[in-house]
Amino acid sequence: MNVRDSEHIVAELKDEYKLTDDISKADLILINTCSVREKPVHKLFSEIGAFNKVRKNGSKIGVCGCTASHLGEEIFNKAPFVDFVLGARNVSKISEAVKTPKFISTDINYDESEFAFGEFRGSPYKAFVNIMIGCDKKCSYCIVPQTRGKEISIPAEIILNEASKAVQNGAKEIFLLGQNVNNYGKFFSSRHEKMDFSDLLVKISEIKGVERIRFTSPHPLHMDDKFLDIFTSNPKICKSMHMPLQSGSTKVLRDMRRGYDKEWFLNRALRLRKMCPEVSISTDIIVAYPTESEDDFKDTMEVLNEVKFEQIFSFKFSPRPLTAAENLPLIDNEIASKRLEILQSRHNEILDEIMKNQVGKIFDVYFEELRANGEVAGRSFSNFLVSVKGSEDLLGKILPVRIEKASRMVLYGKITA
Ligand code: 5AD
Ligand code: SF4
Repeated sequence: MNVRDSEHIVAELKDEYKLTDDISKADLILINTCSVREKPVHKLFSEIGAFNKVRKNGSKIGVCGCTASHLGEEIFNKAPFVDFVLGARNVSKISEAVKTPKFISTDINYDESEFAFGEFRGSPYKAFVNIMIGCDKKCSYCIVPQTRGKEISIPAEIILNEASKAVQNGAKEIFLLGQNVNNYGKFFSSRHEKMDFSDLLVKISEIKGVERIRFTSPHPLHMDDKFLDIFTSNPKICKSMHMPLQSGSTKVLRDMRRGYDKEWFLNRALRLRKMCPEVSISTDIIVAYPTESEDDFKDTMEVLNEVKFEQIFSFKFSPRPLTAAENLPLIDNEIASKRLEILQSRHNEILDEIMKNQVGKIFDVYFEELRANGEVAGRSFSNFLVSVKGSEDLLGKILPVRIEKASRMVLYGKITA
């Protein structure tokens, strides 16, 4: 979502500024920030300190995104050389921000859901399209509802228009974004035709030229049968699903206010595997949530062993301000690190096995990225990263590749046609 926010920022400024990789030449330096865990917040201040040292006279520095939302004025206090602070969900005010001394806007109730952003995309192949803003969940550990505000769906006409335009400009893949995408359509800021996420997926798939649809993040709670059916049967929807587990323990899930339990998660994940054998499932897991006992952690390991995720994003619990879990007593850091290590090393074993099993298969790969050593890489329909020897002629093409070798993160192969 931050990548898309950054694209929106560039789009709004592109008549006045050109992009540069050289900070010392920049008239405007923007940093877009995350605040989900504590570490990126510390990093913000070291990074802008470093920018401040190398920037040219008269240039401006702006801090955008979720940390801007939650720290607000504090950013000016800690880093007085910052020129403006622009919160997530206030992105459309960027043109005003760059012109106004010490501009600050961090209103999490600001409604940008129908704002017509200008056109800019970092990739010509894959188009990120926001389908909602904010999040209405109240996960006990999560700061996002306090930085991105209430959930509002973007009207389908705007989304479909944007997707059609991206396809006309050459993108074959539409990547739908939201904190809670399968809750799409619950609330619009003005009157709109009723539509849920499954309906939206079908509409996107009907756009001529769309060859692949991806989305993130769906919430396991809202993975109803209709959604799983459409996911499985629609030939344009890429067969990779993100299912943020967070914890495998029903007790911890209750403490986290996730709204589902271990059984529901396993039921959905295993049903999905059965309906759609080629699916790859990724997840987010938090270890050492303050109420997590050794037995609770074992439950998480059990789910990991049953679902055998193709990819996990795993984190130690990080206490965040403005959240219900902020003041809970922390689990000893050594224990937390140990749990994270156990989880990640078991996942690596599972992953090595999964990757090995792909050798010999043929995947359609959408080539998007030039790598070192004359390699070109792209994603299979089920989201494996596949690399072949080749040149930039391959970029933007979808071609069948026979897998010959596997490493933990990348499959290597040859184009078969
Ligand atoms: N501590 C650790 N991880 C967190 N996440 C969100 N909040 C926290 C926190 N306080 C993780 C969740 C979420 C992902 C984007 O970040 O797993 O799904
Ligand atoms: Fe945070 Fe929960 Fe919303 Fe995801 S669903 S953004 S974890 S509050």
